[in-house]
Amino acid sequence: MNEWTRKDLLGLEELSAQEIELILQTAGSFKEVSTRSVKKVPTLRGKTIVLFFFEPSTRTRTSFELAAKRLSADTLSIATSTSAIQKGETLKDTFKNIEAMKVDAIILRHSSSGVMHTLAESMGPSIINAGDGCHEHPTQALLDMFTIKEKKGKIKGLNVSIIGDITHSRVARSNIWGLKKLGANVTICAPRTLLPREIEKMGVNITTDLSKALKGADVINILRIQKERQKAGLFPSMREYAIQYGVSKEKLEKYAKKDVLVMHPGPMNRGIEIMPDVADGTYSVILEQVTNGIAVRMAVLYLVSQANSDEQEQ
Ligand code: CP
Repeated sequence: MNEWTRKDLLGLEELSAQEIELILQTAGSFKEVSTRSVKKVPTLRGKTIVLFFFEPSTRTRTSFELAAKRLSADTLSIATSTSAIQKGETLKDTFKNIEAMKVDAIILRHSSSGVMHTLAESMGPSIINAGDGCHEHPTQALLDMFTIKEKKGKIKGLNVSIIGDITHSRVARSNIWGLKKLGANVTICAPRTLLPREIEKMGVNITTDLSKALKGADVINILRIQKERQKAGLFPSMREYAIQYGVSKEKLEKYAKKDVLVMHPGPMNRGIEIMPDVADGTYSVILEQVTNGIAVRMAVLYLVSQANSDEQEQ
């Protein structure tokens, strides 16, 4: 199977390895567009794409908007603070009204896990998940995998350690689904209180010891401590977390491989989960992840758009 037939991108859990590979391969062919002096191709000319973010975002929102514009689509951002949701309109009614204006795709970030699936079932436009609660952030994981493949030449057989607040992380979940499907060995590392129950069912190795997560890793993906989602004190203090789990150059030099790749989805808490000498150091590919995000999102917009057009023609 080498064909994309989904009108939506909701998560990596439901994708096959072949579908993930197809997105990465398509992203590879779009990456060059952003290096041109005229950064535009006519692929989605005439399409309208709506960005609807109920949570703050810098990278994902900008990257999706640039991806859509570079494909020549018309884009529209809806500010939740000035939308009729503030008057009590339901999300479903809001979406039905946007659908009635004949848009082609809606990119949505929302704090409720799984909200995308409910909407996608009843909507004509493509729904693209830009992060739903603690559930999934598929395009972040896709750009992470694209970056790994670009730097290491492969994903199969690599040791990837994901370090940080796993419990609250949609990035961790999407990365685990994607990396496992493409054959990586995944280790997760966090204090016990930041490890979700039954995570071992996802086929990952688990450790609470940072030195073990660093040893032998080809890639480490450091996750943000999500202060806004910490309802109870899940670890004694930020200072203690930084001492035990903060990744510094000194720790990398002591435990990690010489060619380890350091990734972080952003935004970073400098001095907590990642030290500035790592964030800005030679192991870091953090800004390359951001660059690759545009190509990956161009690929996703192109593929879902094609599939939705084919579905409507039948
Ligand atoms: N990685 C990520 O989702 O960043 P933003 O919250 O800035 O979109």
